[in-house]
Amino acid sequence: MLVNATEMLQKARDGHYAVGQFNINNLEWTKAALQAAQEMNSPIILGVSEGAGKYMTGFKTVAAMVKAMIDTLGITVPVALHLDHGSYEGAKACVEAGFSSIMFDGSHYAIDENVAKTTELVALAHENGLSIEAEVGSIGGEEDGVVGMGEIADAAECARIASLGIDFLAAGIGNIHGVYPSNWKGLDFDALEKIHNATDHIPLVLHGGTGIPDDMIKKAISLGVSKINVNTECQLAFAKATREYIEAGKDQQGKGFDPRKLLAPGAEAIKNTVKEKMELFGSVGKA
Ligand code: G3H
Ligand code: ZN
Repeated sequence: MLVNATEMLQKARDGHYAVGQFNINNLEWTKAALQAAQEMNSPIILGVSEGAGKYMTGFKTVAAMVKAMIDTLGITVPVALHLDHGSYEGAKACVEAGFSSIMFDGSHYAIDENVAKTTELVALAHENGLSIEAEVGSIGGEEDGVVGMGEIADAAECARIASLGIDFLAAGIGNIHGVYPSNWKGLDFDALEKIHNATDHIPLVLHGGTGIPDDMIKKAISLGVSKINVNTECQLAFAKATREYIEAGKDQQGKGFDPRKLLAPGAEAIKNTVKEKMELFGSVGKA
């Protein structure tokens, strides 16, 4: 069932668990994530970056595919279709295309401009029944062309953005997109606690979910993180399983080159990764 992400994240915050956002890239990715959610009886958020949206020939194609798949696979758990790190224009396009949730990433603007654009998009999202995420500070590293310097979010700026009526807030707390470097200092829990307290306990979003140690994930959830974004980890699992299939020569046996066979181990690996994360985040059985 396609829903916005407001209620599922409020329940997660109140129940001290987090809902995973898993980014999708194609049909196999989407199917694997949806099946994992249904089998785990867990809510799920499907994230779509602007780059992945273009790759799938546009947000309208993505929305149509996700809606049809929810229907034909008989997915009854709550599913939100969410724009990830959206631009102002991208956010508007996703409202029009039929997404159920958007992120406006105005973190690279000065705070006043972030406030102005976020305010406008909150009204547009809510008029159309969508939930909306905003960002303060920045996530280090790079994801699909979105580059961040990893500034720790200022609690007062977080409070200002949270007061605009957004439904959940992404705050930079030392998290990084992609694989964490060996000299990574870890999450800044002091900053997280300040932000949690300054924002009237709005559901918080932890980006860069790949490779964060389990104990840090649990501590972050205890300090108000209710949504955790995972992208790279599914890509790595997909690539590893596909490589093993080809290196074992399975594409050369029988009809092993058929894409429906060739892509199956990667899809299974994504499904397993999503399920492991749902266990870790505590969302299993919470649909
Ligand atoms: O917005 C999506 C994410 O923050 C995913 O980050 O690729 O490091 O898991 P990741
Ligand atoms: Zn992110």
